[in-house]
Amino acid sequence: MSETAIVRDGDTPAVSALPVRLPPTPRVPRFLQGLGFSVLQEWTIDQIGRRHGDIFMMRIPVFGRTVIVADPALAKQVFMANTDDVGNIQPNLARVLGPGSVFALDGTDHRRRRKLLTPPLHGKSIKNYEAIFEEETLREAASWPQGQEFGTLEPMMRITLNAILRAVFGADGAHLDELRRIIPPWVTLGSRLAVLPMPSRTYGRFSPWGRLAAYRRRYDEVIGRLIDAVQADPNFDTRDDVLALLLRSTYEDGSTMSRQDIGDELLTLLAAGHETTAATLGWVFERISRHRDVLAKLVAEADTDGNEYRQATLLEVQRSRTVIDFAGRHVYAPTFELGEWVIPQGFSILVAISQMHRRSQDFPGPERFDPERFIRQRPSTFAHIPFGGGTRRCVGATFANVEMDVVLRTVLRHFVIDTTTGPAEKSHFRGVAHTPKSGGRIVTHRR
Ligand code: HEM
Repeated sequence: MSETAIVRDGDTPAVSALPVRLPPTPRVPRFLQGLGFSVLQEWTIDQIGRRHGDIFMMRIPVFGRTVIVADPALAKQVFMANTDDVGNIQPNLARVLGPGSVFALDGTDHRRRRKLLTPPLHGKSIKNYEAIFEEETLREAASWPQGQEFGTLEPMMRITLNAILRAVFGADGAHLDELRRIIPPWVTLGSRLAVLPMPSRTYGRFSPWGRLAAYRRRYDEVIGRLIDAVQADPNFDTRDDVLALLLRSTYEDGSTMSRQDIGDELLTLLAAGHETTAATLGWVFERISRHRDVLAKLVAEADTDGNEYRQATLLEVQRSRTVIDFAGRHVYAPTFELGEWVIPQGFSILVAISQMHRRSQDFPGPERFDPERFIRQRPSTFAHIPFGGGTRRCVGATFANVEMDVVLRTVLRHFVIDTTTGPAEKSHFRGVAHTPKSGGRIVTHRR
């Protein structure tokens, strides 16, 4: 298909760009494409992909005309595109997190914010959080039933929530308790509403949007008090939580982040980081309890200082049980050349992460759960993409990786996990992440 893109910018004359050349579109009525994507996303993408290959077009509710990409070379082009040409997907979580969220930013503003966020979420800073990850795991695991099956997902949710509240928000005492109460229902509601069309008003305080606004007011009050407390702390200059680091940091021009932006950004880190990490850990327990050899190797390694096999296992869980399906972008340039195709302005592009992780060209025997494929072999940057890619690649990837490593090591050091021959758990979509449907159920005994 070929047409010429006409780009209109307000009253300025139309500008013509490269002739548009769109990838194939399934011969399915528009509403069925939308329904399939909303209700049976993975199946729909898989079916269309089988017929049309690694790049095709769909009409999707909220995102509109969308190009789906499931090829590493094309994904690389999307991720590495000039950010003025290809920016963040619209709409996105910023609708509920606020204009100060990194999700709301593109181009130079986005680059500046990422520069500010990166140091507190990498290297030396993460080392300081390891003790928090271990403590939270031990606290949660203290009440695990012995010899009885239980779901790991909910305990993992509490561990990752507390870890972010302590490491990122620097919260403790009453602030920690208040945030623990407000945030989980807020995030659950917010992630459902984020993908719905935005109403022009909230329809009263009992409507979902009214309840979301009420949570936000309470959150802003607590964050305001927390910021006051952190700034008044005599140890402010040496504190290593992300909040203190953000309060102390400055942009290149010497300006600092506003309180509102800090509030939006902390909530962003939590919304993006808490359920995703917990869902992956839930899958870790689901997988390793069904693979005796893998579990035996992990147990042996946990008593040493090494983590090569644990890291390979985490990579394989993220490949085979991908929790975030898509990394989304929006075409801002008049046209964007993608392989042999030319995509016009206003289109969405979704890189289909789980689809890419099932490519037998990149991962031989993709249905096999096999951490060995990542032993002494780093996964390819644009084929294994659980954290997305390019300038918008997950800013919390290192944080999540170290947290998952420490949580798994701590559980293995303190508990024996029974293996099971039960069928694999199916996947359940919770609004943000894909989780094990029965909650990653396992049986443990204290060592
Ligand atoms: C296993 C856990 C996690 C997974 C699978 C995950 C996955 C992702 C993915 C796929 C993206 C989109 C990347 C793209 O568009 O190219 C993303 C973005 C993001 N993630 Fe994560 N994430 C995880 C943990 C975390 C944690 C722990 C944090 C914070 C501490 C975090 C904060 C963010 C933020 C702020 C963004 C937006 C980045 C931007 O737009 O510049 N994530 N994540």
